[in-house]
This record gives sequence, structure tokens and C-alpha cells, in this order.
Amino acid sequence: MRSIVVLISGGGSNLQAIIDHIKAEKLDVRISLVLSNREDAYGLKRAEKAGIPTAIIDHTQFESRELFDQAMAKEIDRYNPELIVMAGFMRILSHGFAEHYAGKMINIHPALLPAYKGLHTHRRALADKAVHHGATVHFVTPELDSGASIVQGKVPVLAGDNEESLQSRVHRIEHVIYPTVVEWFAKDRLAYLDGQAYLDDKPLNQPVIIEQASDQH
Ligand code: GAR
Repeated sequence: MRSIVVLISGGGSNLQAIIDHIKAEKLDVRISLVLSNREDAYGLKRAEKAGIPTAIIDHTQFESRELFDQAMAKEIDRYNPELIVMAGFMRILSHGFAEHYAGKMINIHPALLPAYKGLHTHRRALADKAVHHGATVHFVTPELDSGASIVQGKVPVLAGDNEESLQSRVHRIEHVIYPTVVEWFAKDRLAYLDGQAYLDDKPLNQPVIIEQASDQH
């Protein structure tokens, strides 16, 4: 069974979605470690409840981003994972860390990339009166939110939406698309070569789009 490490900073609902898929035997991977940069991340409790080893590496205790990232890599590499899954991990990565895991690290970002890289994506989508919003799972490269996209979960922006309602709709589709991508990895369907993502040996020139069913707003 393939081993993955999940990086979190907060609530860990995406981690929970992956745990639930494993428990339901829809996903055949082992989460070897959940690593958080914050000791108060609720996701750590979710991991403990599921019997998954946890580690906390507090970024405020390091003099530089590089030293923090080196400490993280040292901890991650003890478990020899085949995939690193960033699930609400809210730190910018050093070039060296991203390069070290090139092709082996994925992230979920709450926007339809390349739209709304960075923070406050829901607020920005509402301010722009966007018709659609969503989330993207992509391979991680040194440039923020810019690696090859694998899947996008697309949801409508509805009249009367506020940041919270839009965020919770995006969260629901994240909990569908992230376990799906990890499953593709577990089944050896996903690959990455020279900056390009492949699914079933075909280049993903566009991400696979998963739309929320219209009765699930
Ligand atoms: C998710 O919405 C994820 O897309 C976002 O943080 C949230 C974490 O939720 N990630 C980023 O903004 C990364 N730039 P969770 O802790 O409940 O999984």
C-alpha cells in the first residue's frame, strides 16, 4: 500500500475526507504522518482519532523559511512517503522544499486557478461577481499556486452568497475532488513529468472538471 504524508495548518476537513474514504475502503493508501505547523490545528485531533501519527513543527521557532522547511523535510522523509498532500497548509514553500518533492507533492487551492492565486479567494470571487468558483488540485512547484492542475471542482456563485456560504460550497466540492486525486495516485493513474500532469498516460492539458450536481447547492 502506498504511503502518503498530509500537511495541515488548520481545521483539516480535507484530511477528514481522505480519512473517511480510506475507512470506507474507497481509497487504498496509508497516511503515515499528519504534519502541522500549528499546534492548535484541529486537524491534529482528527488524525489522532484515526490513529495516525502526528508531528508539529512550529514555523515561528525557526530563523528562516529555509530552516523551517529543512526541518519539515527531515521529519517527512523519515516516513519515506510516495506523495505529500498539502491540505490547508498555509505556508509559502521555499524553492528547495518544492524542488525536493517535485512531482510528488499536491495542493488544493480554493479557486479555479489560474484565477485567484493567494489568499481571500472567496471574497475576491464575490467582489468580481464571478459566476463560478471552486477549487483546484495541482502539483506543487516553487511558484505559488502555479503547478500543473489535475482536477477542478466547479460550483456556482449564487445570488445572496456571502464569504461563508461560498466557502462552505467550495469545501463540499473539495471533499469530493481531493480524495479522487489521491485515489488516482493510489491506482497509479497519475503521473508528472517535466512540468506536465498525466492521467492514464494522457497529458492533462486542461484539468478534469468535476461540477457540483445542481440539486446540491
Ligand atoms: C481549504 O479550503 C483549502 O482549499 C485551503 O484551505 C482550506 C483548508 O480547509 N487552502 C488554501 O487556501 C491554500 N492556499 P481544511 O483545513 O478544512 O481542509
